[in-house]
Amino acid sequence: MTAPADNTYDELPYEDLAFFHTHPANLAAVAMLCGMTPPPIESCSVLELGCGAGFNLIAMSESLPDARLVGIDYSARQIEAGREMAARAGAANVDLRVGDASALDASLGRFDYVIAHGLLSWVTPDVRSAIFAACNRHLAPGGIAYLSYNTYPGWHLRSLLFDALRFHAAFEGTPLERVPRARAALDRMIDDLPEPDVEYARLLRSEIEGLRDDQDAYVFHEFLETDNHPLHFAEFAVQAAQAGLRYVAEARFGTSAIAQRGDMRRRLEAVSPDLLRQEQYHDLLRNRYFRQSLLCHADLPSNGLLQQGALDRLVILARVEPLPAEADGVRPFRLRDGGVVRLDNPLLIAILDRLARAWPQPLGVGALAAAVEADLAGVALPPGASAGAVIREGVLVGYGWGWWPLLARAPAAALVPGERPRALALARLGARNASSVTNLLHQPVELDAAQRAVIVRLDGSATLDDIAGSLGMTRDEVAATVQGLAAAWLLTRG
Ligand SMILES: C[S@@+](CC[C@H](N)C(=O)[O-])C[C@H]1O[C@@H](n2cnc3c(N)ncnc32)[C@H](O)[C@@H]1O
Repeated sequence: MTAPADNTYDELPYEDLAFFHTHPANLAAVAMLCGMTPPPIESCSVLELGCGAGFNLIAMSESLPDARLVGIDYSARQIEAGREMAARAGAANVDLRVGDASALDASLGRFDYVIAHGLLSWVTPDVRSAIFAACNRHLAPGGIAYLSYNTYPGWHLRSLLFDALRFHAAFEGTPLERVPRARAALDRMIDDLPEPDVEYARLLRSEIEGLRDDQDAYVFHEFLETDNHPLHFAEFAVQAAQAGLRYVAEARFGTSAIAQRGDMRRRLEAVSPDLLRQEQYHDLLRNRYFRQSLLCHADLPSNGLLQQGALDRLVILARVEPLPAEADGVRPFRLRDGGVVRLDNPLLIAILDRLARAWPQPLGVGALAAAVEADLAGVALPPGASAGAVIREGVLVGYGWGWWPLLARAPAAALVPGERPRALALARLGARNASSVTNLLHQPVELDAAQRAVIVRLDGSATLDDIAGSLGMTRDEVAATVQGLAAAWLLTRG
C-alpha cells in the first residue's frame, strides 16, 4: 500500500520528535501501577502505527538495543527518510515499512507494545475502527497499546480556531502556502473583532495567541486536514471494548482518574463507582482536549485500583535543583522543565532533597523511601500512618503532578564519562543542525553552543585532549562540558 496521491504528510511532515510517554519504560510502569504484569521491556517488541519518519522508534532503539522496533506509515517519503536516519544512527533493530495501518494482516505478528501517536482521531471513522482491530490483532496477550487522540469537551472550544483557520486557509494552494496565509488572516481577525471584551472574543484571542509558537506542520495537520474527528472518552472506551480491548489508564498517569487523590478522588467517586464514567467526568471537569490512553486485552483482570505496592519495582529519577531557602522556611526547588515549586511540606522537601542529591543516578522507589524515612526521623506523621506508606504517597503525588517520571527500568548509560566518551549517535547527528536532542530517557535536552560543539565529536575515539585541541578549549572546560552531557543522559556505555 502506498499513501494516497495527495498525502499531505509527504509535503508537510511532522518534525522529528520522540514522545516520552510512548516509551515502554513508561507504559510498563503505568501498567504495573494498575496491577498488571506487563512484558519485560529489555527485549520487548514494539509496533508503531503512523510512525511518520520513525524518529520515535529510532530514539527508542538507543535505550532498548535488544528490542524489536517496527514502524508502519503509508507516507513512502517519510519512511524513506526514516530508513536513512536509522542507518546513519546505527539503529539496526528498527524496521520501518510503508503500509496502511487499516489493512494489516495477521502475518505481521504480535507485539508487546503497540503505539499509535497522533493517528486515531486524524483518520476516517472506518479507518479508526480498523486501527482498534489492528491493536487487538497485533497486541501480545499481556501487552499494552497506547493510542493518543483529540477529545471533548476541550475540542468544542478549539473548534472556534478550527472554523476560523479553515475559513481563512480556504482550500487552494499547497499546505506550505496555506498555513502562513491563515496565520496572517487570524492576526488580522483579532483586530477586526467588533466587541473585544465579550467572552467569544476573549476565547478566540487566547486560542489564536496560543497557536503562534506552534509549528506549521502541527497547525496544518491539526486544523486543516479533512479528517480530524475528536472523540469523547466514553466513545473511545466503547469502540475499544467492541474490538476486544479494555481501558487501563493514561500514559501521562497523573491525568488518569485512577491517579486522582484527595478532593478530586471523592468527587469522581461520588459521581460513579465505574472507572470509565469517572474518566469521562474528569474530562468534563478539566476541559480536556487530548488523551494518551492505554489499552490491554479485555480478558486481563483488573480491580481498577492503584497498586501502591508496585512502586517498589519502579525506578525514580528527577533533575531537581534545590534553591536557597526562603525566610519563612519555604524551600524552593527548580524542576526539569525550569518551573519552580515552593514547598513547606517536610515530606515532599525530604523527597526532593534526596532526588537532587542522587541525580543523575536513578533510585529504586524502595531505596528512596528508606533514605527519606531516615531523614524524617523525629518529624510527626499523621496519626496511625506508617512512614513508608506516607512517603510512597508523596512519591505518587509528585509523579501525578509530573515532577518526576517513574520507569519500569532505567536504561544503561555512562553517567560518569571515561577518557574517550561516546555520545548517542542520534544526538550527535541532531546537534549538527539543532539545539534540542533526545536523551536515553526519551526526553528532549536543550544544548548550548559549547555542548553542541563537543557532543558532535564524542564518537568514542577522541580523547578529552583531542577535543580540547580541536576546539581551542582547555581540557578542564571540555571535561566539565562532557560531565554535563553525561548527567543529561546523553552518553552511552557502548
Ligand atoms: C499526525 S501524524 C503523526 C506522526 C507521528 N506519530 C508523530 O506523532 O509525530 C500521522 C501519521 O500517520 C500516517 N497515517 C495516516 N493514516 C495512516 C494509515 N491509514 N496507515 C498508515 N499511516 C497512516 C501519516 O502519514 C502520518 O505520518
